[in-house]
Amino acid sequence: MSDLREEISRRRTFAIISHPDAGKTTLTEKFLLYGGAIQSAGSVRGKQGDKHAVSDWMELEKQRGISVTSSVMQFEYEGYCINILDTPGHQDFSEDTYRTLMAADSAVMVIDAAKGIEAQTRKLFRVCAMRHIPIFTFINKLDREAKDPFDLMDELESEFGIGTYPMNWPISCGQTFKGVYERDKKCILTFDNFHGGRERLRAIECDIAQTEKLDSLIGSHLREILAEQIELLDGACFDFDLEKVRCGKLSPVFFGSALNNFGIETFLEHFLKMTTPPLGRETEDGEVSPFDENFSAFVFKIQANMNKAHRDRIAFMRICSGKFEKGCEYLHVNQGKMIRLSQPQQMMAQEREVIDEAYAGDIIGVFDPGIFSIGDTVCQPPLKVRFRGIPTFAPEHFAVIEQIDSMKRKQFAKGMEQIAQEGAIQIFFLPDSGMERVIVGVVGLLQFDVLRFRMQSEYGVEYSRMDMPHDQIRYIEKSSVELSDLKLSGDTRRVRDIKGNDLLIFPGVWAVNWALENNEGLELSEFNKW
Ligand code: G4P
Repeated sequence: MSDLREEISRRRTFAIISHPDAGKTTLTEKFLLYGGAIQSAGSVRGKQGDKHAVSDWMELEKQRGISVTSSVMQFEYEGYCINILDTPGHQDFSEDTYRTLMAADSAVMVIDAAKGIEAQTRKLFRVCAMRHIPIFTFINKLDREAKDPFDLMDELESEFGIGTYPMNWPISCGQTFKGVYERDKKCILTFDNFHGGRERLRAIECDIAQTEKLDSLIGSHLREILAEQIELLDGACFDFDLEKVRCGKLSPVFFGSALNNFGIETFLEHFLKMTTPPLGRETEDGEVSPFDENFSAFVFKIQANMNKAHRDRIAFMRICSGKFEKGCEYLHVNQGKMIRLSQPQQMMAQEREVIDEAYAGDIIGVFDPGIFSIGDTVCQPPLKVRFRGIPTFAPEHFAVIEQIDSMKRKQFAKGMEQIAQEGAIQIFFLPDSGMERVIVGVVGLLQFDVLRFRMQSEYGVEYSRMDMPHDQIRYIEKSSVELSDLKLSGDTRRVRDIKGNDLLIFPGVWAVNWALENNEGLELSEFNKW
């Protein structure tokens, strides 16, 4: 038991989020470098070409040279066992990206100092905020020209509605970037040179009161500016409050340069102190403690068809309590059956390894012969719980998908239904239209490519796809008239989901407002429900 407690207490599981190119991969790589999990930077993701080194199972990934699904990496640092959940970039964005955030206990948001908040960060932040998980901000690329740090703080606060607490403060930026001021230690960290970012960086520390030494390190001009900024900061910024950090209301902010290894150690040191080990998770019957001796986990992602010949799938699970042991039988709660989880795997740095045991906080991938759905719970009896479901996220792209070959009607219907049930796409039905023509909704366009690939390779079905200009979806909660009599703008579509709920799909927010203004008694609700 003490072993269990010790193992779980040293675990930290976080997701790393950013807009593409902000430096997420570089920062992840530097974490691994500092943790000793890799020997030199540049091995997680080399130059173009071996970008899919981390996971190249899926045919589609190979074809496009991208990583379709998020990967998980584990490494050790100063006695902690850290799990990083990577969220895929831009063109690989999908509903899986959001679901990955369900498995994390905190998030690290990487922001390009020259660009500030960008579209993808905004989307991912919203999901983290829904869960009230701690959010740490790493403002990257200070070695380049950057926005004013005070403006960056304002941007975070006004756009995200959270408080910020700079843990350190940059001394200039771009070519004159000298390092950072550490607010808690009241000292500056500067450096001799950057070593091109391949090795750990040895920083020079200097107390803020040692004026002469400071002048020799950063020059009197920058020292004076820094003194003014510190005064302003201490007067104007939020007070540090760990409780607020832990419920996601206050984001500790760090400045640095991932490429040059600057700010990595400081970040890890504070991050590890401020975050907690895995906490209890809500189930339908109350909370389960991570220290419960019985193993429990939920499926947050299913990666299908990694090996075409075997049509196999991997279900990714977040362990919520106890210890997983290879070879044990566990209860698949949703099916009421005892099962053995086979080929359990974990990513250690960039190696995929079969594992014998794993603890609460860890993520494992297990072979799935088609028995898992997103959100399923697996437990070790006598524990029998169901974790609260994983929400479905509002699709932002829609297309009409129509079967081409009427001889394959059955395969088309079966494929679409199964793939939707797995959570890889969402499907909607038009009134008076059969199963040969459906509307597919996705969060990221890549999901359309995955759908076509899987329909061809698994079900032998071709279809036509017509993209729709719609990007808004709402549930119809109440209407004072028959739904067919609703007054809607020309291109608003009324549809039904797989569970029989009525919804409207709109070509923009203006059309949502138009519907509300022209139909008294119509009540609509947001799609993302928690
Ligand atoms: P991502 O995963 O968020 O998409 O970003 P990634 O780490 O791939 O970084 C995007 C680009 O920004 C890379 O350059 C990377 O080297 C650079 N970068 C990351 N951190 C810093 C930093 O602190 N300072 C500066 N100046 N650049 C940084 P690239 O030219 O697109 O790729 P590569 O040829 O270096 O691989």
